[in-house]
Amino acid sequence: MDNPHGDQRTRFVVLASGTGTLLQSLLNAAADPGFPAQIVAVGADVDDAMALDRAAQVGVPTFVVPVSDYATRSDWDQALTSAIDQWNPDWIFCAGFMRILGSATLTKYAGRIINTHPALLPSFPGAHAVRDALGYGVRVTGCTMHLIDEGVDTGPIIAQSPVHVDASDDESSLHERIKMAERSLAVGTIAAIASRGCVVDGRRAYIP
Ligand code: GRF
Repeated sequence: MDNPHGDQRTRFVVLASGTGTLLQSLLNAAADPGFPAQIVAVGADVDDAMALDRAAQVGVPTFVVPVSDYATRSDWDQALTSAIDQWNPDWIFCAGFMRILGSATLTKYAGRIINTHPALLPSFPGAHAVRDALGYGVRVTGCTMHLIDEGVDTGPIIAQSPVHVDASDDESSLHERIKMAERSLAVGTIAAIASRGCVVDGRRAYIP
């Protein structure tokens, strides 16, 4: 299962549900052998996620674990954990994975699952963060890299980047600018964690 070229870099499995532009930034960065992380596999919960095509295009293995294939959430959670286990990752990165992870995954990979969220947490958690920020009328929003815990977007914050809201913004234009910030923050955060790890002290997470 090790990379045939003997790639010794820190191993990341990326989970994604959507178009995968964040994943693409990570794949582009990891194509440089000097980047300290490798993407060993990409997993999705839907078989038409464009993220899967992006991975396949550069020869990164993929797997799909659809919720609808399992009788219970717990069965799905176990199956997802087993699928991830095949790739022996050091870290998991959720790049727009629109499912809440279950206890099997959270227990097995405790403290080693990173999520990216398109708002400045703890403001605007949940699946409609960009719409909610716009609706509230904030002038600055942004993106957050955080560790995943049992809550929804509640885990310790690793890194954040601000994005100004323009008067002319709609959800789509604002999300696109947030994703630009998100892509570079994700690449930088993964590089730093791959090189130096991440220390958690209560609510505070930092890269030493
Ligand atoms: C990102 O904004 C992520 O935070 C959100 O979904 C978006 C993923 O975009 N949950 P893409 O699929 O990588 O383009």
